[in-house]
Amino acid sequence: MIVLGIETSCDETAAAVVTDRREILGDVVLSQLTDHRPYGGVVPEIAARAHLDHLDGLIRRAMDEAGLGFDQLDGVAATGGPGLIGGVIVGVMTAKAIAAVRGLPFIAVNHLEGHALTARLTDPAPEGLSFPYLLLLVSGGHCQILAVEGVGRYRRLGTTIDDAVGEAFDKAAKLMGLGYPGGPLLERAAEGGDASRFDLPRPMKGRPGCDFSFSGLKTAVRNRLSELPPGPFDPIDIRDLAASFQAAVGDVMVDRCSRAMAQFRAEHPTGDTLVVAGGVAANKYLRARLTALADKQGFRFQAPPLRLCTDNAVMIAWAGLERLRLGDTDGLDFAPRPRWPLDPTARKPDGKGAKA
Ligand code: KG4
Ligand code: ZN
Repeated sequence: MIVLGIETSCDETAAAVVTDRREILGDVVLSQLTDHRPYGGVVPEIAARAHLDHLDGLIRRAMDEAGLGFDQLDGVAATGGPGLIGGVIVGVMTAKAIAAVRGLPFIAVNHLEGHALTARLTDPAPEGLSFPYLLLLVSGGHCQILAVEGVGRYRRLGTTIDDAVGEAFDKAAKLMGLGYPGGPLLERAAEGGDASRFDLPRPMKGRPGCDFSFSGLKTAVRNRLSELPPGPFDPIDIRDLAASFQAAVGDVMVDRCSRAMAQFRAEHPTGDTLVVAGGVAANKYLRARLTALADKQGFRFQAPPLRLCTDNAVMIAWAGLERLRLGDTDGLDFAPRPRWPLDPTARKPDGKGAKA
């Protein structure tokens, strides 16, 4: 079984081809970083236009890499949401057109489901990763802990009540004058820093449940910066503040994840794997903290290779394939969804309904 996947929900335009033998035959990603950098963030209108300009060429390249024609595909999958709606429409319409012309099944994939199932494609064990497992999804747009119980069966144990963790990195880095996107720049700035120098809060640490909050941490960074001497920041101050910030995020993650692990274990005694996905999973310090936590709790730690942690189309093709083999496909009347919670029963911490 071979599936073409398309991802256009944020600022990466991507196409990929995967098989049910866990092979990646084609995989191309075009980042729009340089288009958005002057604005210090993703501009939805620019993103949608860039997807439109590049998607057909990228699909051609992915198919060429795979050495396949469209008639050799078994299905076409595209991110159907959640995400920036202009971009999602471009990807969904393109996938539908290919499916309609070639008479192929179309699968609208939830972007979060793509992140959630990638570990089943990349797990090094010969038989792959079986359900259930615990997933920490940490990116610029998402910050959730999920029990992944099967294809289409995701139970949210925790989510952020304000900013996603990648967003917190980006905002803190911006305040420190480090540039965009802030995560990798802040990680580099923190190297060799004194993580105990600045006193920063650990929001939600020790609280019941597994939810996150990061806006207070960002405010604390702003306050610490305002206490520094006027004029350009001293690089040593920034180094120590970045290290202190990372340590605070690490403490919060370890606290929240260890609670989620206990809850997951109580419900799923056979589940033994913690999967980390999303762009923030690139952070070496956080990876090390989570690996140590997993070791301590008797969990196996699994993080997909970096290029499959950040947004890509391999994860969409794979999630599409997992759905296709269960016969779970979508009609050509599928409407793109700007919001699409993975766990429809999950409530926002304020009780006002689900947040994607
Ligand atoms: O998954 P992703 O590529 O896009 C989505 O948000 O869906 O994640 C991007 C986010 C950005 O907020 C970026 O700053 C953060 O991941 N990030 C990092 C690191 N690399 C990327 N955060 C902390 N440390 C890093 N090394
Ligand atoms: Zn993503």
